[in-house]
Amino acid sequence: MIGRLNHIAIAVPDLDVAVRQYRDTLGADVSEPMDLPHQGVTVVFVNLPNTKIELLLPLGENSTISKFLEKNPAGGMHHICYEVEDIIAARDKLKAEGARVLGSGEPTTGAHGKPVLFLHPKDFSGTLVEIEQV
Ligand code: CO
Repeated sequence: MIGRLNHIAIAVPDLDVAVRQYRDTLGADVSEPMDLPHQGVTVVFVNLPNTKIELLLPLGENSTISKFLEKNPAGGMHHICYEVEDIIAARDKLKAEGARVLGSGEPTTGAHGKPVLFLHPKDFSGTLVEIEQV
């Protein structure tokens, strides 16, 4: 059901430091920071030949990234995103398999303007999973 790896998201406590690591040390193509108030993050896209890395900094009150950084002060992998063709069909199959869909269960608009859902990390070996309809 899942297709390509769309991105891996990394929560970072300092976006400037993370940008220097990816742009200067690793030599990657790094975007300008973008504020996404609805997602509660400022994001920088690291464009790799086969996928993207998203560097996430909390934005505003009650960002889910803030809670993650309290537990992981140095930052860390926050979630992994897989592409699906039909997010409603994917959601219904996942629920039928017993996987827990976070939030209301209805897709929201993700960082790329596409419908996304998040799946409970306890159902996927401790990894928060995002699915995105492409
Ligand atoms: Co994501």
